[in-house]
Amino acid sequence: MALVLVTGGTGHLGRDLVDRLVRAGHRVRVFARSPQSRSDIQWATGDLATGEGLRPALHGVDTVINAATFSPIARRGGVRPIDFFKSPSAVDVEGTGRLLALCGDASIRHFLHVSIVGLDDASLPYGRVKLAGERLVRSSALPWSVVRAMPFYYLLESMLAGLSWLTLWPVPTTVFNPVDTSDVADYLVRCAFDGQRGARAEIGGPDDLGCDTLARQYQAARGIRRPILPMRVSERTARGMGFVVSSGVRGTLSWSDWLQRRSSAFQIAA
Ligand SMILES: NC(=O)c1ccc[n+]([C@@H]2O[C@H](COP(=O)([O-])OP(=O)(O)OC[C@H]3O[C@@H](n4cnc5c(N)ncnc54)[C@H](OP(=O)(O)O)[C@@H]3O)[C@@H](O)[C@H]2O)c1
Repeated sequence: MALVLVTGGTGHLGRDLVDRLVRAGHRVRVFARSPQSRSDIQWATGDLATGEGLRPALHGVDTVINAATFSPIARRGGVRPIDFFKSPSAVDVEGTGRLLALCGDASIRHFLHVSIVGLDDASLPYGRVKLAGERLVRSSALPWSVVRAMPFYYLLESMLAGLSWLTLWPVPTTVFNPVDTSDVADYLVRCAFDGQRGARAEIGGPDDLGCDTLARQYQAARGIRRPILPMRVSERTARGMGFVVSSGVRGTLSWSDWLQRRSSAFQIAA
């Protein structure tokens, strides 16, 4: 079995991806700033923002799946005014550039890059940073693939949890189809080894739902009762913030089923 290097393997998507690669019998090395205790994979310590540890991490690697990112919004689970002005690029742009350059030296046979649906219209700085990183991949001489995914359920959950303190929830009516990381991870594993290259079909969740409906389902699952104020947002603004409906591949896990599973997991843990 070929050796697969996963960047971002400690993140939300990365953990699901590594699980699936291991289950499928692949040899997996995770490039991480802080290696963890899992012993059925190899760990390569390093930092994409500085390039530390990257060259040795690529030794003997056949396929790279680049799922690392530095998104301040995802890290804190909410948007702050600063996010409308800037977003750091050291991981997603400079880090991706360094990785690509070293992959060229290491004769990598497939560089699979994870990106976001609708980036071409992105107005938020994080989206523009992701687009710049994606463009580096598309213009590289490596055999590359790019998979664009819709926003993940975990992020939507943290955004909605951030509204809990409000007595009235102002929520856009804009329709989109968020997706679970488990579905994206399944698709990435297929894309990594199906022999195809280039811009791949994008992936989104199974249901196209207004944000107000998603918020209602969230409230129902968490036993929260707050009036929702549906807000109309222009199509341009919505697209700029990533509220689009994806084409291509659809995941199978719905938002309501995901919420149910999370509630059950909390109950078992409590
Ligand atoms: N979140 C979404 O809604 C969404 C939607 C579509 C596509 N995507 C894309 O999917 C991919 C994974 O997203 P995610 O939400 O799962 O990310 P995440 O949970 O925030 O995880 C990010 C990963 O990147 C690693 N990382 C950050 N800075 C690093 C650095 N300097 N050097 C090495 N590794 C570093 C993190 O490692 P540490 O553990 O050390 O922090 C972590 O493993 C990204 O490409 C993202 O753009 C995300």
